[in-house]
Amino acid sequence: MAETFSQLLQGRLFDALAKTSIADDLPDDLDLEVSAATNPQFGDYQANAAMVLAKKVGKNPRELATEIVESFDGSDLCETPEIAGPGFINFRLTTDCLESRLTKLISDTDQLGVEPIENPQRVVIDFSAPNVAKPMHVGHIRSTFLGDALARIARFLGHDVITDNHIGDWGTQFGMILWGWKNLLDQDALEKEPLEELVRVYKAVNEKQKDDDAIAAECRNELVKLQQGDEENRKIWQTCVELSKNGLQKIYDLLGIEFDHWFGESFYNDHLGPLVEKLIAENIATESDGAIVVFSDGSSPEKEDPFLKNENDEWVPQPALIQKTDGGFLYATTDLATIDHRIENLKADAAWYVVGAPQQLHFDQIFEIAKRRGQDIDLQFIPFGSILGKDRKMYRTRTGESVGLIDVIDESIERARKIVEEKNPDLSGEDKAGIATTIGIGAIKYAELSQFRMTDYIFDWDTMLALKGNTAPYLLNAYVRTRAIFRKLGNEFEGAAEISLTEQAEKNLALKLMQYGESLPTVLEDFRPNLLANYLYELATTYHKFWEACPVLRAEGAVRDTRLALCELTSRVLKHGLGLLGIRTTERM
Ligand code: ARG
Repeated sequence: MAETFSQLLQGRLFDALAKTSIADDLPDDLDLEVSAATNPQFGDYQANAAMVLAKKVGKNPRELATEIVESFDGSDLCETPEIAGPGFINFRLTTDCLESRLTKLISDTDQLGVEPIENPQRVVIDFSAPNVAKPMHVGHIRSTFLGDALARIARFLGHDVITDNHIGDWGTQFGMILWGWKNLLDQDALEKEPLEELVRVYKAVNEKQKDDDAIAAECRNELVKLQQGDEENRKIWQTCVELSKNGLQKIYDLLGIEFDHWFGESFYNDHLGPLVEKLIAENIATESDGAIVVFSDGSSPEKEDPFLKNENDEWVPQPALIQKTDGGFLYATTDLATIDHRIENLKADAAWYVVGAPQQLHFDQIFEIAKRRGQDIDLQFIPFGSILGKDRKMYRTRTGESVGLIDVIDESIERARKIVEEKNPDLSGEDKAGIATTIGIGAIKYAELSQFRMTDYIFDWDTMLALKGNTAPYLLNAYVRTRAIFRKLGNEFEGAAEISLTEQAEKNLALKLMQYGESLPTVLEDFRPNLLANYLYELATTYHKFWEACPVLRAEGAVRDTRLALCELTSRVLKHGLGLLGIRTTERM
């Protein structure tokens, strides 16, 4: 499909400016903003160009706006633009233009009016990444859902996406797990619920070693043996990792999430020693008190230097530790090796890390090291905030433990089942179960993805499962309504012989549908799937208004065709957009 309205209007605005008295004063990198109007009173699109430019060249903004409008040539797109307030230029699209665009949109079945991006990259997206034998808690919800949505969106927009689950399958927790495996393991439980049993063992040992120095020492000893390649410990470790991966895979299957790779931390073990040697040779790392660390090289202003911190008004070193005095390597060392692998083996142009905000410093430091090494990769940290309980504290179970993801999923499905039961008691048990799963999982995903990622949001069942408001059930219900029309019709959509937009509610919906292609690319500007969620919410609201104002099946001729087309397109865009958020749709609910 051709350019979006906002791009088309931008082009025309540019042409108009070239005919005004300030034509020679226009900056080379002129970036004109034409955005969808927030209030229909101001037309469909709005430009602030006259105000921005008037300021630059010292002119009156309203006068400049008048000049622009006089030179503006866009009768094939919109009515004569209007000037409002301090110098806004407002555009109202013509019905003809909306109609011809709508016709094109109907046949654009794959792209739905979304243009692929101009500079596709090969992007590794690093998300989810739970730790073996530790429960995958709700904090991982954010990474998992955000990462998956970003991967789907980036792929659809044309990036070559590689998803990598960088699981924590190596590290100090294995000392405790090994000791627990040898002393506390319940074989039966392990066979039945491996993930739970591993977590139980880990927690039990963790408690025991706190006030028993002998056990703590034995745990450390188990870890050293593992690191030195002890055969028995290697085998147990391997089994734990396998069991964990299988357990996690079941959760991902339920959630409909796939990874291209699971290069866990252990994958890089053999690279860590040589990498540290290299970093020393490159003069990036140095020895300090027997450990190997990276200090500031003084190249950035103190405030922006991740290797400095401010203590009592003084800048003091905050080095990154990459090898401990006992020779052990760290989280940062593994992440540096991971960058090498992504550049050399995966040929990545970019890597996006969807990890909680508390790890900001870690990523600032390793990104800075990559920069100092002259590594050619666009590294992006995509942080997120916390999930809170209704008491505005970290979301926890009643007993104060962190909530397991699987429990959240189960409860959501259970609650969704009650909704389906009430709404549609006549469905078969199997249908009810399927629909409840779709709504239940959709609801937790949407609760996450409809928020700006840095917002600490409150995890509240009643809000996220409500049929009204910005929720998954509301959007799914809008989709169900579009499908119900075709069920009643007894036919799938078969194209529209003639398009004729008569009512304002139809035009609003048509325009909204055409804005999918404007809205979607903005998600990647700052990694905000909530912009897509908001768009879909607005689309659903616009659709509901249309549905109330415009009878579809009772209409005739071109009006009926057009309305059916609007229903069909709403159905397509909702399904597609929710799909990009990782949310499945249902035909009934
Ligand atoms: N396993 C880590 C955690 O749970 C997250 C890993 C994120 N990815 C990375 N490349 N460091 O905190």
